[in-house]
Amino acid sequence: MNATDFSIGICVPEFMNAALCVYKIVLFDKVLQRFVATLCFICLVWPFYPFFHLVEWKAFLAFDTILSFWHGTCKIFRVNCLNISVIIGGSRLLHYSIAVIPGDGIGPEVMNEGLKVLKAIEESHGGIRFACDEKPWNCEYYLKNGRMMPENGLDVLKDYDLILLGAIGAPGVPDHISVWELILPIRRAFQQYVNLRPVKLLRGLESPLRYKGHDDLDFVVVRENTEGEYSNMGGRMHQGTPFEMAVQNNVFTRYGTERIIKYAYNLAEKRPKKRLTAATKSNGINHSMPFWDEIVKEVGREHAGIETNLYHIDALAAYFITRPEEFDVVVASNLFGDILTDLGAAVVGGLGLAPSANINPEREFPSMFEPIHGSAPDIAGKGIANPIAQIWSLSMMMDHLGLPEIGKVILDSIEQVLIDGKVQTPDLGGKATTKELGDEIVSQIYKATR
Ligand code: IPM
Ligand code: MG
Repeated sequence: MNATDFSIGICVPEFMNAALCVYKIVLFDKVLQRFVATLCFICLVWPFYPFFHLVEWKAFLAFDTILSFWHGTCKIFRVNCLNISVIIGGSRLLHYSIAVIPGDGIGPEVMNEGLKVLKAIEESHGGIRFACDEKPWNCEYYLKNGRMMPENGLDVLKDYDLILLGAIGAPGVPDHISVWELILPIRRAFQQYVNLRPVKLLRGLESPLRYKGHDDLDFVVVRENTEGEYSNMGGRMHQGTPFEMAVQNNVFTRYGTERIIKYAYNLAEKRPKKRLTAATKSNGINHSMPFWDEIVKEVGREHAGIETNLYHIDALAAYFITRPEEFDVVVASNLFGDILTDLGAAVVGGLGLAPSANINPEREFPSMFEPIHGSAPDIAGKGIANPIAQIWSLSMMMDHLGLPEIGKVILDSIEQVLIDGKVQTPDLGGKATTKELGDEIVSQIYKATR
């Protein structure tokens, strides 16, 4: 929780909740609802007024939001002023702290738009507060300090509810440093072992696959995110000699493999096609991949209702193009999932449209949300990057928080802007800037929630 930011819930007697229910059922008309709610609000707050003076919260006089509605449902009454929110009503203020790491290149550009979306959600919802703290940890920080984040960086992040990342990497710093000192330690230390990556063709967009439409391109890749091919087991020897060598071991633990496959099956149980596809390569990689396949089969036995297919990664890559309609949940090891999801992004319109959620399902640590794309130094500073992947990652964040109705508002707003087709960044064939597209999505969110 941010030190300068606090909220106070005032309990209301049960009858108030009951009255709210009656009022919701009886008064369908939104204008009438607001009118009655305003009256209730004034009656409720007035008795507290002397106490506000007692504690010198005169600032309460400047209510910036009197009432808040979400899709016409009266959940709470909110009075919001400066950094103090008083909630009067049945629900508590939802408060989330977010460590924001804009990063390098186009990262800060798309992040600006993401933060605007969070503000819009706060304002239109009324019962949510996102306390965002920006961390200047990027390649510039590395060049000044010799490290990508402070020594206690992970400790600092651990206390946040969530992490929002832009993109990391800049020409002056080798990628294996920027990535291995920032993104990968976060994914591992916080046991974000699920990397969820939807492959979904949004309405308003066409796939470069000529005969594939929205119903054909709607699945999710579950990428293992803490071990596999991305292990730091290995090393180099005889550098600078003709005998030079490098070894990088793949690490597949039973614990790590089982938990990702179980997650994928549980997700498949909730999805419409009830189908799980596992990426393998047990014909060419003869230790780790047969082990992976065995675990898929073992876990699969506990999910009799799910159809399981094991495809070799090379064939699977081709099927992403030729028969994507077959997929529902695709589970893959770290590297296979990484490669497949860039391909997945390409078939739904490009990397500017591909979000990703690094999830710690046990919620012992913060989860991290980011676009799949990198820092794109070639277009950085031009203000033309597509902010949709970053904004969509916020929709995934809302789903993770158990607020799918907000996640839907964000995704529907992105789709509506794409359907309107008036504001498009160059990657979508338009001339709009990052900011213009972000603004358009924000105003669509306000429109949708008014
Ligand atoms: C991604 C990226 C990262 C990954 C890089 C930057 C290490 O490509 O998130 O897909 O491979 O995980
Ligand atoms: Mg990648």
